[in-house]
Amino acid sequence: MDKKIALIGCGKAGLSLSLALKGAGWEVVGCASRTLAAARAGADWLACPLLASFGEIPAEAVLILGVPEGALPEVESSVARQDPNLKGRVILHLSGALPARVLEFCRLRGASVGSIHPIMALPDPLTGAKRLKDATFAIEGRPAALEVMKAIALALSGRYFILSPRGKTLYHAAAVVASNHLVALLADSQELLDRAGADASVAWPAFQALVEGTVKNFYAGGPVSALTGPVERGDLETIRRHLQALKRWPEARERYRSMALGVLGLARLRHPERREAHDALEKLVTGWHSS
Ligand SMILES: NC(=O)c1ccc[n+]([C@@H]2O[C@H](COP(=O)([O-])OP(=O)(O)OC[C@H]3O[C@@H](n4cnc5c(N)ncnc54)[C@H](OP(=O)(O)O)[C@@H]3O)[C@@H](O)[C@H]2O)c1
Repeated sequence: MDKKIALIGCGKAGLSLSLALKGAGWEVVGCASRTLAAARAGADWLACPLLASFGEIPAEAVLILGVPEGALPEVESSVARQDPNLKGRVILHLSGALPARVLEFCRLRGASVGSIHPIMALPDPLTGAKRLKDATFAIEGRPAALEVMKAIALALSGRYFILSPRGKTLYHAAAVVASNHLVALLADSQELLDRAGADASVAWPAFQALVEGTVKNFYAGGPVSALTGPVERGDLETIRRHLQALKRWPEARERYRSMALGVLGLARLRHPERREAHDALEKLVTGWHSS
């Protein structure tokens, strides 16, 4: 492998990755961006030439598309148009949400396409390049692209896992649930705590410790063993009181109801012998509209 890259899209992620690879001994043969200003700034960061056309990129260099998801179709089709013979070229994008097959025109012209998503926030090139040494990379794509992505991960942090094209979308949904949905859930908890009249300066740190303990238990023993609380205990009356108290906040109550059903699914796995109590809980949680 020649350890050469070219970058199109001189933004936060593309520059972070290229800079980190440069630090690991890879050669950056050139860069381009939508605006000349960004391309010039990129060329300064990477101490590399500006690319005037895709034809200038040596065949052995890996092409990294550091552009946002919305720009990928335009950029990849213009790469395919300008360079009709992409046989042997590896082309990668950095999106966590999209599979490699969005680079379809390039694949049809012979390129081996891949997606490499560093699971890390990359706020600027310098911080990003440093953080990539601790990042795990989710990689997915065609065989030659996979080999290059493994080499990139090994050059930076040594950590990667491989996804299938279908798995890529589920992977992104998993990340959204784990980060964005968790935030919404914690916001509900904080709102209820405030409405309960608790002193935030004392109560919030206490809840932080509660959440951190739960997360620790989850990753140490898995969801079933991390489960505690009234649903796990089959405590129908407590759940009834919660739903009653939440009546004045219908949106939070809807989310409570839906999460309680998720908890119930885990409780059923943990205590299969409590089927009757769980059935009663399910009836209570799903049938509250009629009461
Ligand atoms: N930042 C992160 O934390 C992070 C982490 C992991 C993965 N990613 C992924 O990396 C990708 C890029 O995100 P980002 O955060 O680096 O975004 P960004 O900072 O906005 O950078 C995007 C770059 O793409 C360039 N660009 C846009 N349209 C273009 C076009 N048609 N042709 C050529 N260049 C074009 C922009 O150029 P101009 O500046 O010239 O307009 C900009 O420099 C996304 O898929 C994102 O999901 C980001």
